[in-house]
Amino acid sequence: MAQPILIEGLKRLEYRGYDSAGVALLGCDGIKIKKTEGRISALEDILDKPEVCETFGIGHTRWATHGAPNSINAHPHIDYTGKIAIVHNGIVENYNTLKKWLISEGIQFVTETDSEVIAQMIGYFYAKVTNGQDDQSLNGQNKFEWAVQRTLRELHGTFGLAIICSDYPNMLIGARKGSPLILGIGNNEYILASDAAAIVEHTTSAIYLSDNEIVTVALDGFHTTTINNVAVAKDVEPIEFSLEQIELGGFEHHMLKEIFEQPESLSICMGGRLNRQEHRIRLGGIEKYLRELTRTKRLIITACGTAFHAGLVGEFLFEQLARIPAETEYASEFRYRNPIIEDGTVVISISQSGETLDTLAAVEEAKERGATVLGIVNVVGSTIARATDAGVYLHVGPEIGVASTKAFTAQVAVLTMLAVELGRRRLISTAQADKYITELSLIPEKIKKVLEQSDHIKEIAQANIEKNNWLFLGRGVNYPVALEGALKLKEISYIHAEGLPAAEMKHGPIALIADGMPAVFIATSGLQYDKIMGNIAEVKARGGRIIVVATEGDKEIMKCADHVITIPDVPDLLQPMIAVVPLQLLAYHAAVLRGHDVDKPRNLAKSVTVE
Ligand code: M6R
Repeated sequence: MAQPILIEGLKRLEYRGYDSAGVALLGCDGIKIKKTEGRISALEDILDKPEVCETFGIGHTRWATHGAPNSINAHPHIDYTGKIAIVHNGIVENYNTLKKWLISEGIQFVTETDSEVIAQMIGYFYAKVTNGQDDQSLNGQNKFEWAVQRTLRELHGTFGLAIICSDYPNMLIGARKGSPLILGIGNNEYILASDAAAIVEHTTSAIYLSDNEIVTVALDGFHTTTINNVAVAKDVEPIEFSLEQIELGGFEHHMLKEIFEQPESLSICMGGRLNRQEHRIRLGGIEKYLRELTRTKRLIITACGTAFHAGLVGEFLFEQLARIPAETEYASEFRYRNPIIEDGTVVISISQSGETLDTLAAVEEAKERGATVLGIVNVVGSTIARATDAGVYLHVGPEIGVASTKAFTAQVAVLTMLAVELGRRRLISTAQADKYITELSLIPEKIKKVLEQSDHIKEIAQANIEKNNWLFLGRGVNYPVALEGALKLKEISYIHAEGLPAAEMKHGPIALIADGMPAVFIATSGLQYDKIMGNIAEVKARGGRIIVVATEGDKEIMKCADHVITIPDVPDLLQPMIAVVPLQLLAYHAAVLRGHDVDKPRNLAKSVTVE
């Protein structure tokens, strides 16, 4: 019975989109569709009892692009003949043209979505070939597969698709271009999914489809082709995570679990890479690019959201430790600015999911312009991991909470390791490199000390919970930490927050300060400490509420701050990995106190596979 497996799988994928959901089952009487606005739990409320004859089915949980999140626009979509049903991730960019053409052929549309075009068009071609109007082009192929391929060749944009046809009750077709799709191969069962999380309960073996490939699954096995019907052989690969990793394990939310996992995830991320005996850092995946990196004239880092903030930390470190000019660009802007990529430029792309469309587009743009492109990615086998020339995996396990936490600290860890290694090759002494290697290995233990303050941080959140506008301020390498703190607060607690370089405040934003507005300063010891103390005084004098992340033992700060969170002492350049942790906790507690769904904040999805 397909229905329970679909629902279980959708629940595991719900973090990727959750405004509406639906399933279509191929049963004894053709296709049965159930769909609704809201979460999977709302879908469960309207489902019928599963039927034994329903062995094939498709399901979807949506993050709306075209058309409001309601039950009509929810997937699956069915064609005008009622024979074809599809679920679709991605965007059909030419849907307007195709829709107009199909309407001119007499087909009526029911939804506002771009995806419906795919169902209607497959239905249209299927009807033609079934009526014998197009059967000379079949070449022995089955009509369902033929109609799917015929349609996909017309689509511009991206798709991860699962399709069923009531005339083929024992068949399921999947196709991908730009949106991930894998086929889990179990014991007498196959599960097609856009994310391994949906199938790991059933199997740890899968094939990963590449762009413009189709898989046809039937009772007796599966075969893969291109959308032009050329056979392709695929390797069965292991899925590298376990069920425990995607379960809550006693925590109330995935985000909290992931924050608390950071000592361990960072140990795994850095462990085998910090080589004290050889006085160096080994990043196996990019080892053969190290010479090029050491000589590079310029590094461009591209990423979105939290990964972009990690990139900003990296930019600072490459310049400080290795004296390599570096700049971080929003991946979403990169390809639209005719970027200048001279000889000797290396591009580094950062992404937790490895599926962010904007980031992928930047990778492609950089490659087209002749740059070597390296990835820093978490999800093994993801599209960006495959599209880059080489890369370093974070190895922090699946990140389920929509707010990225453990991926950020690991992204910063990888960038720091790379900057230290390049620094060692270019200008810093072995003794300095050794010091960084030792200090990096101590970070996980130091993060544990910050986590112990979770209850104290909750009290700070509680004391300021009525405040609707916050500032986050940092200098130097801690400026991106301020940006990240503000992003975390915004995305899960819906509190307006701005991250700024502390000294920029006096050029405008200081006008906002009044009536106990919370201003969170990262005022750790070292670089620019005295300067930031000056900035704190400026805010205090204007009635701001001062919340400070300070270094343990700083007595001075106690005199001017309303709330203090301490972190253990670390060299300046390694502070972001630790200083961000209290800000993650602050955002988490504020969101819980405000009663929000921390793991599934409104309007967001975990991986943004649309532009
Ligand atoms: O999967 P990616 O790292 O490419 O995702 C990039 C952003 O969408 C992501 O970091 C987003 O900003 C997070 N929700 C932040 O917590």
